[in-house]
Amino acid sequence: MNIAAARLQSGRQDIAALASNENPDGCSPRVAAALTNLNPSRYSDPACTALRAALGQKLGVAVDRIVAGNGSEEMIAAVCRAVLRPGALVGTVCPGFGLHEIEALANGANVEKVAMRADLDFDVPAIVAMLEREPAIFFLSSPSNPVGPALDRESLARVLAAVSPGTLLVLDEAYFEFTDEDLPDGLAALSATDLSWVVLRTFSKAYGLAGLRVGYSVMSDARLARAVAAAKTPFNVNAAAQVAAVAALEDEAWMSSSVSALKRERARVANAVAAIGLASARSQTNFLFIDVGRDSSAAMAHFLSGGIIVKPWKEKGYETFIRVTIGTPAENDRFLDALCAFARG
Ligand SMILES: Cc1ncc(COP(=O)(O)O)c(C=O)c1O
Repeated sequence: MNIAAARLQSGRQDIAALASNENPDGCSPRVAAALTNLNPSRYSDPACTALRAALGQKLGVAVDRIVAGNGSEEMIAAVCRAVLRPGALVGTVCPGFGLHEIEALANGANVEKVAMRADLDFDVPAIVAMLEREPAIFFLSSPSNPVGPALDRESLARVLAAVSPGTLLVLDEAYFEFTDEDLPDGLAALSATDLSWVVLRTFSKAYGLAGLRVGYSVMSDARLARAVAAAKTPFNVNAAAQVAAVAALEDEAWMSSSVSALKRERARVANAVAAIGLASARSQTNFLFIDVGRDSSAAMAHFLSGGIIVKPWKEKGYETFIRVTIGTPAENDRFLDALCAFARG
């Protein structure tokens, strides 16, 4: 639900939008400054030359292995279109990010899902068993959306050791910037292998550019990158998004300071949720996945009546969970007050 719809339904103006994992701090001031120099009459650069050069430099990756997208979600679609044939097996995790399944199904694949463990962490032996069946693609979001944990070094190594040459591993790191420092950088870990892989990252979360729609994929080799680029539309990343993303990369200090503050808030909110007596998953993201103990749709309606948008989970076995974004301290306080009232009611 977006803010306009929430205003209509709740009759309140002061909406706390905590359903889409956006950055409540906005974005670097350099983005607004860069956008003033834009010429909207010209088509955008189809090759995203400046953005890919900036990313190549930041990541230490050759630009011919980077493709920029209209959000990383477009890259999920392009990878599926480039790689999948009807009847192919695609593996992923449940609960998981919907588009990993939806785009695979749209390209005729059969999708099978590995459940998270009851303690809401990755079931590494089950993921390994699925990989041993050599799916055409295995989509893994680590950190996990919607649950929150990220694979540690040992678990990631076990997963990578199980990937066969016939499988494309798509590691979706949309929340990479929020992970603790002792956790692995998936791009670095995959770069040290000779596997076929794609790493997805985005400017929508830590960099605060969700509305402009810009993300990217880094591929194991240039041939795969060409195939993915061929599966997107030519002017997929608009001119404003390209300029904004480059400006955001020039101000990593803004992003790091915003992420640090959000991580402190994440710890505060998680402790408060536990103090209310509710369980939430260990999170390496900018959200929490909370078992509210009752139907998530009822919880959503309760929060909405207080002007707070949360995401109710609907996947089987998780119907009592909501996903809530870490907002500003004031928004988080509002959420916690409403959660307390829901838990008591
Ligand atoms: C795991 C994951 N992947 C990809 C995306 C898509 O992000 P975007 O298209 O905004 O880059 C999201 C957005 O919520 C996400 O959570």
